[in-house]
Amino acid sequence: MLKRYLFAWSKSEVKVFDSDILVLGSGIAGLYTAIKVSEHFQVTVLTKKTIEKSNTEHAQGGIAVAIDEADSPTLHFEDTLRAGAGLCDPLTVRILVEEGPSCVEELMGMGAQFDRLDGELALTREAAHSQRRILHALGDATGWEVERALVAKAKESSNVTVGEGRFVVDLLEDHKGDIIGALVLNETTGELEGHLAKAVVLATGGLGQVYRYTTNPSVATGDGMAVALRAGADLMDMEFVQFHPTALLIPKAPRFLISEAVRGEGAYLINSAGLRFMENVPGKELAPRDIVARAIWQEMNQGSVYLDFRPIGQKRILERFPTIYQTCLNYGIDVLSTPLPVAPAAHYMMGGIATNSYGETSLPNLYAAGECACNGVHGANRLASNSLLDGLVFGARIVEKMGDKIEAKRPSWDEVHCPEGNLKHIGTEMKRSVRRFDGQGLRKRIQDLMWDNVGILRNEAGLRKTAELLMAWEQDDFSTCCVDDLETANMLMVGAVIAKAAFERKESRGAHFRSDYPLRLDELWQKHSRQHKEGYHVCYVPVSGAD
Ligand code: SIN
Repeated sequence: MLKRYLFAWSKSEVKVFDSDILVLGSGIAGLYTAIKVSEHFQVTVLTKKTIEKSNTEHAQGGIAVAIDEADSPTLHFEDTLRAGAGLCDPLTVRILVEEGPSCVEELMGMGAQFDRLDGELALTREAAHSQRRILHALGDATGWEVERALVAKAKESSNVTVGEGRFVVDLLEDHKGDIIGALVLNETTGELEGHLAKAVVLATGGLGQVYRYTTNPSVATGDGMAVALRAGADLMDMEFVQFHPTALLIPKAPRFLISEAVRGEGAYLINSAGLRFMENVPGKELAPRDIVARAIWQEMNQGSVYLDFRPIGQKRILERFPTIYQTCLNYGIDVLSTPLPVAPAAHYMMGGIATNSYGETSLPNLYAAGECACNGVHGANRLASNSLLDGLVFGARIVEKMGDKIEAKRPSWDEVHCPEGNLKHIGTEMKRSVRRFDGQGLRKRIQDLMWDNVGILRNEAGLRKTAELLMAWEQDDFSTCCVDDLETANMLMVGAVIAKAAFERKESRGAHFRSDYPLRLDELWQKHSRQHKEGYHVCYVPVSGAD
C-alpha cells in the first residue's frame, strides 16, 4: 500500500488560495488548456520552476499534422497505429488525427509561427511517417517557439494567474473522495499552500530523470503521475518508456537531443567502420524509433555509433538545424564535416495517468493531459512528433467536457479531508526540513538501477531486483521539504511502478523489449496494464476499439 501523502502536514499550517480551475504544469498541454478554459473560468497555473521550463521547450522536431494535399488523417491514423505496435486505442487515435489540424490552426492563431517555404507551411519527415507532415519552427526549435507563443498568450489573459516556483506535493480531496485542489510547496517562501478549485488539470509532463541518461530537462521527475497515484488514480501502460535513438554522446555532457528530423532530412547512422548498419532494416534510418534505438544499442557493443549529417548538405544543415549545429559546435564537433557520436537516451513516457478521450481520470474532478496522461494514442511506441499534438487535442477536449460538468460553487478549506489518523503529524517547518536520507545518493541509485535494468533491453532478474528494491525504499520516511528530495521520492515511486509493470509483461512489444521473452504475443498481451495504489499491483484492460 502506498502512502497517501508525501509527508505529514496539518490543515492549520496551510495558506489557502482558490480559483475555478487549477492547472498544474506549464508546457503545451497545461498552457493551451489554461488559455482555452480562461475564456469561461478563472484559472490558476502553477509550475515547478519558471513558466517556460518544461519538456515542451526542448522539443525540436515539431508537430505532426495531416495538412498536406498528399496526406490525410487516415494515413496519419495508420502510421500512428503501426508504430504503436498493437497497443494504440483506435478511438483516441482517430480523435488525435482528425481534431489535430483545427487545434494546430488555433495554436497559430495564438501566435505560434511555423517555418514556411514559398509562403506555404514547410513540412518535414520523421521516422515511421509515410508522409512529410511535421511542422517545425526556427528550424529545430519548435518547442521553444510554441512555448513562447503560449506564455505570451497566457500572460495577456486577465483570467489566468501564474504561480512559479510551486511544487505540487499532493492532491486534496473532500469527504466523498472528489478532488478539490492541491497541496503545494512554495519554493520561495517555504510555505505550504492549499490551492482549491472546482477541477484540477494535471499537465506536469514526463519522467525522463528517472533514468541515468535522458534528453529531458531536470524538471521531468514524474511528479504528476506520483501525486495522481497517491490520490488513488489509475496509471496505465507504465512499462512503455521511449528511448530516443540519437542523443549526443560526449563524456560529461548531457544527452542533448539530436532530432529525428536530422535523419528525416537524409543523415545516415554509421558504425566505427563507417558502415550504414541500418541499411538492411526495413525503413532504414527511418524505421520506428524503438527499432532504431535497439539497433544502435546493439551496435554499441562493437564500438561507437555516429550520425553523419553530411548527406544533408551544408546549406540545408545550417537552415534546418541551427540549434543542433551550434550546440554541437560548442562541444567541439562541427557536424558539417564530422560525424557526430550518438547514443539512445530516455525520452518519453507513453504511459501515464489513465484518462478517457476527454482527459477525465478515474477520480472525480481530476483531469490529465500531455505526457503525464495516457489516453491510448501512443500505444507501445509513440510516433515521432505526435506528443505536442496530443497535448493540444486532448487539452481542448478537457475544456469541452468541463464546460458541462463544473460545479457552481468553489470548494472551501473546511471541505478538505485530511485524515489526521493516517498521518504522523510533524507540524513545524523546522522538523519537516530535517534530511533523514541522502537524497542525491538515492536519486543516483534509482537512475542507475532504472538505466541498467529497466532500459532498452530488460530481463526477469533485473526487473525483479529493481522493482523489489524501489518498492522497499519507497516505504521510507521522506521527512523533508527540500524539493530535490521530494522529487526523488516521486522518482522512486514512478520508477517502482515502471519496473513492476515491465516485470509483469512477459513479451516484447514496442519500446518494451525483454531478452527473455523476445516475441510479441498478441493473444496473451494485447492489453493495457493498469496500476493503482494497492501495492503497485498490475491488472489489465482491453485495447478499446481494437479489431
Ligand atoms: C525529435 O525531434 O526527434 C523529437 C520529436 C519527438 O520526440 O516527437
